[in-house]
Amino acid sequence: MKNIMVTGGAGFIGSNFVIYILEKYPEYDIIVYDKLTYAGNLENLLEVADDPRYHFVQGDICDAATVDETITRFSIDTIINFAAETHVDRSILAPDAFIQTGVYGTYVLLEAAKNHGLRYHQISTDEVYGHIPAGYSSVETDKLDPRSPYAASKASGDLLVNAYFITYGLPVTITRGSNNIGPFQYPEKVVPLFASNAIDGLPLPVYGDGQQMREYQYVVDHCEAIDLVLHKGVLGEAYNVGTGVEMANMTMVEILLDTLGKSRDLIRHVADRPGHDRRYSLNVDKIKALGWEPRHSSEEAVRKTAVWYQQNEWWWRKIKSGEFKAYYEKQYGERLRATEA
Ligand code: NAD
Ligand code: DAU
Repeated sequence: MKNIMVTGGAGFIGSNFVIYILEKYPEYDIIVYDKLTYAGNLENLLEVADDPRYHFVQGDICDAATVDETITRFSIDTIINFAAETHVDRSILAPDAFIQTGVYGTYVLLEAAKNHGLRYHQISTDEVYGHIPAGYSSVETDKLDPRSPYAASKASGDLLVNAYFITYGLPVTITRGSNNIGPFQYPEKVVPLFASNAIDGLPLPVYGDGQQMREYQYVVDHCEAIDLVLHKGVLGEAYNVGTGVEMANMTMVEILLDTLGKSRDLIRHVADRPGHDRRYSLNVDKIKALGWEPRHSSEEAVRKTAVWYQQNEWWWRKIKSGEFKAYYEKQYGERLRATEA
């Protein structure tokens, strides 16, 4: 019997993980603890809303009293921390919340885990390694070299997790995932943004030359890796989780447009993201040695995701009409107008 507190469980990866874990482990209870920022959405969890083993608490991971109360109330034995501000472009516009949640919030959860004697797992990212030159793939022991406020907030979280393992012997593990795609990803991230724009015949704003390299990974593959590390990972260790195969953004865009039957005329090359990491690449030998393999190639992941957005307009259309519009204008207004001149 496990009572797992999934912080950030109403977001993209967290909600996919909750659905996956409730299905796989009939004896587990899941307590989603989520602030419900613009990115948190209880509609992601509709499928499990009536499951008596699923519970929801609205709360901030920076709020130690509510974290403590929730752990006691549900007899929590494990925390999996997905909660974070996650969009690199927003971290460039306004870094404050990234530091609050990624650094202070992670510290609050680690203190709570120490005080209550809990198992702790941190969801991290390949972005902590920074830009990776061609010909090399990051291994888990590499120096952390984050280059955006988002990546720096995540790297800080990893360092705190490691410090709690070394100093207090807290039973921790970390997974560092590559670019996840799939159902319920907020349409500010490139694949859902481009899929939903393409469906509406709107331009696709590709930053710079679009030759940046990413490992687009299907979200459920990532969930399986987290599950494996939670149950079989060596305490104190980090595990990279990616496809091991990189793809240029332009290739991703072409696959996406072809899947949706849309014209490449929608592509616009716009002013680049400041400090844009040109390439991430993960060596995934360590997680493979634990018994994990990705089930989807990047191409399959892009195609499957594009089709999900095509079939689930009910989910993303209302998101794109709210707060999103102001953000879109701020991030893309000038960039797109400059391509018309
Ligand atoms: P997301 O933005 O979709 O969801 C984040 C969730 O965290 C939201 O539900 C939000 O309400 C919640 N949240 C934010 N601040 C909070 C706070 N202070 N207290 C409680 N809840 C809070 O993010 P995602 O893409 O699902 O990412 C989840 C985790 O995985 C993050 O830690 C992210 O850094 C990491 N990650 C993401 C990717 C990716 O490609 N999306 C890849 C690797 C790692
Ligand atoms: O690598 C893992 C990371 O992947 C996660 O830790 C982050 O939380 C997640 O947001 C994601 O970060 P990226 O910055 O890589 O994802 P994003 O979808 O924003 O961008 C992917 C690539 O596409 C990147 O090279 C930038 C480019 N891009 C993005 C947007 C939003 C564009 O060309 N145009 C765009 O409009």
